[in-house]
Amino acid sequence: MGWHLSILVMATTCFMLFPISDQSSQSELLQQLRKQLEYPRQLDTWGNPSSDPCYTQPTAVLAVTCEGNALMELKIIGDRITKPPKFNGYSVPNVTLSEVFVLDSFVTTLARLTTLRVVILVSLCLWGPLPDKIHCLSSLEVLDLSSNFLYGSIPPKLSVMSKLRTMTLDGNYFNVSVPDWLDSFSNLTVLRLQSNLLKGFIPASIGKADVLTELALAGNSISGDVPNLGNLSKFEMLDLRDNQLDGELPEMPTALVTILLSKNSLKGEIPEQFVQLNRLQHLDLSFNFLVGSPPEESFALPNISYLNLAANMLSGSLSSSLTCSSTLGFVDLSTNQFTGDLPACLNGNMNNKVVKFVGNCFSTDPAHQHEAKYCHQSHKERGSNKDVGLVITVVGILFIVLVLSLVLMASNKRSCQIVLVEQQFLQKHKQDNSTSGMSSELLVNASKSS
Ligand SMILES: *[C@@H]1O[C@H](CO)[C@@H](O)[C@H](O)[C@H]1NC(C)=O
Ligand SMILES: *[C@@H]1O[C@H](CO)[C@@H](O)[C@H](O)[C@H]1NC(C)=O
Ligand SMILES: *[C@@H]1O[C@H](CO)[C@@H](O)[C@H](O)[C@H]1NC(C)=O
Ligand SMILES: *[C@@H]1O[C@H](CO)[C@@H](O)[C@H](O)[C@H]1NC(C)=O
Ligand SMILES: *[C@@H]1O[C@H](CO)[C@@H](O)[C@H](O)[C@H]1NC(C)=O
Repeated sequence: MGWHLSILVMATTCFMLFPISDQSSQSELLQQLRKQLEYPRQLDTWGNPSSDPCYTQPTAVLAVTCEGNALMELKIIGDRITKPPKFNGYSVPNVTLSEVFVLDSFVTTLARLTTLRVVILVSLCLWGPLPDKIHCLSSLEVLDLSSNFLYGSIPPKLSVMSKLRTMTLDGNYFNVSVPDWLDSFSNLTVLRLQSNLLKGFIPASIGKADVLTELALAGNSISGDVPNLGNLSKFEMLDLRDNQLDGELPEMPTALVTILLSKNSLKGEIPEQFVQLNRLQHLDLSFNFLVGSPPEESFALPNISYLNLAANMLSGSLSSSLTCSSTLGFVDLSTNQFTGDLPACLNGNMNNKVVKFVGNCFSTDPAHQHEAKYCHQSHKERGSNKDVGLVITVVGILFIVLVLSLVLMASNKRSCQIVLVEQQFLQKHKQDNSTSGMSSELLVNASKSS
């Protein structure tokens, strides 16, 4: 009922926005779009009055597809433009379209091309909040507005676009939370909102978006848990890299082919259930705070080719009988707390397999491993040791400063020397710190470059 109501609302608002005058023909609307886009050079061919955009040969940067006279697809890829360090919602000279550009008017023009099924308008310097009237493109199946300067929220009215299959809004400035109405899309299979400024949690309702196959939210500031997508039987690709997710890993839907969760703050162990992911090819859990031992069968998953567990707090020893899938081409175990021998199937870069394991306590390649005691300390102990160390250092410095100032009072003449001694002390302390506390990222980068 609610659904029908929203269709009705949609029909009326769109009807009011665009009374069926239809005086302006399709090609006039296209000319209008060209003007509003401030004549990008990709559209120079439209400048020739004798050429009909429907009949121009599609190129990599421009495609206009028509069926009969009805416009089906509009694809314009602008010049890639480096993003300004700070975009505050207003036009930036030579970066965004000019200040006279109004996204709302542009979308009004666009939405009158009601037959459109595919709209791809990438890197065109569009700027502004995305107006919700874009939902009036009710035949739309693919919407890609990547690499523009869109900000604010993703309009909830988009959810009435029942034919929409793919929505890609990567590389914009959307800065509210991830929409919680995604399950109301009946046909949405691909959602990409990477490299925006999204914050807040991933709504649990996403676990009900039945036909979803791909969710890519990498490069935002999303926090909270990885949602439970266990019921999504068609789900193949999850990319949540580079966010602030800090929960434990949930069980994953078994159709998954790619799981990318690196550079978050995920805790807990890798669930045993991961060994049921028979289609999995690419698993990246690097740069998190995962603990425990990874399930050994994950090295033997039938289709696994890339397995990156680097820079976590994984521990224990891998059994010598561990088997590797013949498809496995890359394994990174660097910068964890593994002990014991490296299992034979990971030892030596056999069968064109790349295996990285520096910064653990393996008995193999001791030159690049820590001493055993490093891996037997839990993270917490090491943390508190560090705190104790810090306190001792601070007390030490205070003590030395006190002694030095007593000496200073005794003899004012030697002040230059004292400062020197103090500087040397601080310098030494800094060096000590930087060698023992070398960041895991550095180690991993070092291992990568080697
Ligand atoms: C989103 O970005 C715009 C433009 O920079 C800004 O005006 C607005 O306050 C931001 N909104 C939020 C919720 O941060
Ligand atoms: C913008 O580009 C024009 C022409 O390339 C140049 O003359 C002008 O100085 C540029 N403006 C800014 C603010 O960079
Ligand atoms: C969803 O997609 C299917 C197949 O692509 C199509 O038959 C169906 O009409 C679509 N649903 C809606 C509401 O458009
Ligand atoms: C999965 O579906 C079952 C049965 O429909 C339901 O009970 C359960 O809550 C669902 N799980 C999630 C995470 O949505
Ligand atoms: C493994 O991958 C191949 C191709 O990459 C694919 O044909 C095959 O169906 C996959 N196996 C499973 C169990 O998904």
